Amino acid sequence: MKTIELNHPLIEHKLAILRDKKTGTKEFRELISEIAMFLCYEAMRDAKLETTEIETPLEKMKIGKLDEDKYAFVPILRAGTGMLDGVIRVIPNAKIGHIGMYRNEKTFEPVNYYFKVPKDIEHREVIILDPMLATGGSALDAIELLKSKGVKNIKFLSIIAAPEEIEKVEEKHPDVQIYCAHIDDHLNENKYIVPGLGDAGDRIFGTK
Ligand code: PRP
Ligand code: URA
Repeated sequence: MKTIELNHPLIEHKLAILRDKKTGTKEFRELISEIAMFLCYEAMRDAKLETTEIETPLEKMKIGKLDEDKYAFVPILRAGTGMLDGVIRVIPNAKIGHIGMYRNEKTFEPVNYYFKVPKDIEHREVIILDPMLATGGSALDAIELLKSKGVKNIKFLSIIAAPEEIEKVEEKHPDVQIYCAHIDDHLNENKYIVPGLGDAGDRIFGTK
């Protein structure tokens, strides 16, 4: 499936502030959370609703409702947790799992250090959260881990992605729909996305 890129003036405006190196931790966190909310809104466009009957102050009516309980958000630690606030505002009753991964600074390969997901994960629609899709190594490992647990329905929300690398993930997992706010230009020699926004985890947590 071809990646869905949010193409909207409001998103470009928010990305302009997010990318700016002068933007401080508080505003950076808020923007990551807000953009995640818009990504989640887009990712729910094909959501199946269950018809229920409600009563307005005027009359009874049939209307579609989401079974929020069948969704699970799975942020990739650390930076993915910055997106959690925003998506939870959209689907407050979704379950939450965590995948711990960091990129080895020399090989750029992901190292998995934690995995904890809600029970019955194989029956849920799983939405992976990670603001940066650079070499795609972390995304591929996270998708493969979840598939090895029987998960069949996966979406991936990222804020900034690198062009050729996102295609690798699309080719390897054509069933996983990726949503991103912007596909950038290229990766530099340290495998950072250019122009990008720098190190998402460090900017969210103020660690550098
Ligand atoms: C960042 C980012 C992704 C990964 C992307 O995490 O949040 O998880 O790098 O790179 P890739 O596509 O090349 O795998 P990082 O390793 O900096 O860990 P952190 O979130 O703990 O800061
Ligand atoms: N991880 C980040 O936080 N930023 C990048 O540009 C690449 C990987």
